[in-house]
Amino acid sequence: MRILLAYCSLSGNTRDVARMVRARCEALGHAVTWIETDIQTLASVCPDGADHDLYVLGAWTDNAGRTPVEMKRFIAELVDAVGKPRQLAAFGTGETQWGAEYYCGAVRRIAAFFGTDYPTLEIEQMPHGERDALKIERWTDTIVARTETPPHADPARFVA
Ligand SMILES: Cc1cc2nc3c(=O)[nH]c(=O)nc-3n(C[C@H](O)[C@H](O)[C@H](O)COP(=O)(O)O)c2cc1C
Repeated sequence: MRILLAYCSLSGNTRDVARMVRARCEALGHAVTWIETDIQTLASVCPDGADHDLYVLGAWTDNAGRTPVEMKRFIAELVDAVGKPRQLAAFGTGETQWGAEYYCGAVRRIAAFFGTDYPTLEIEQMPHGERDALKIERWTDTIVARTETPPHADPARFVA
């Protein structure tokens, strides 16, 4: 599959998670288009079109649960290019000290904006140890598997 992974990161936490997601995608045999929204545009990385099988967007969370402006700009460009893809997963980092209401708010906002039913991945600050590594690996496996074998629109088909 062709996977587009775009992320924004102020101090490196989200970049660390993004690198782990990319490494897992590549270990599973997929090609990853890597975009740092702080310094790159979609058009500059994908001049021949942005079509991919899976879109993965990662963001840190800004004041009061907001999406950083660089990611908002990227999302506007993505929607112009490909609309709102169904195959889209959001991840990010945040800090619980901002309150449960705002924790990783950007991840939730991005998922809600695209109306995706893929699971989200939220990491407190930076990935720590085996536990977070496993969480990131499992999440990546889940979103990849779901893209390769989407749940059928009619679950009754599988009953009986
Ligand atoms: C100005 C500012 C506002 C923040 N507001 C929130 C917030 O509302 N919710 C949250 O979960 N984290 C908030 N954070 C914490 C960051 O999202 C968190 O440290 C994140 O891991 C930074 O990721 P990065 O290293 O990729 O930039 C805020 C950080 C800053 C600097």
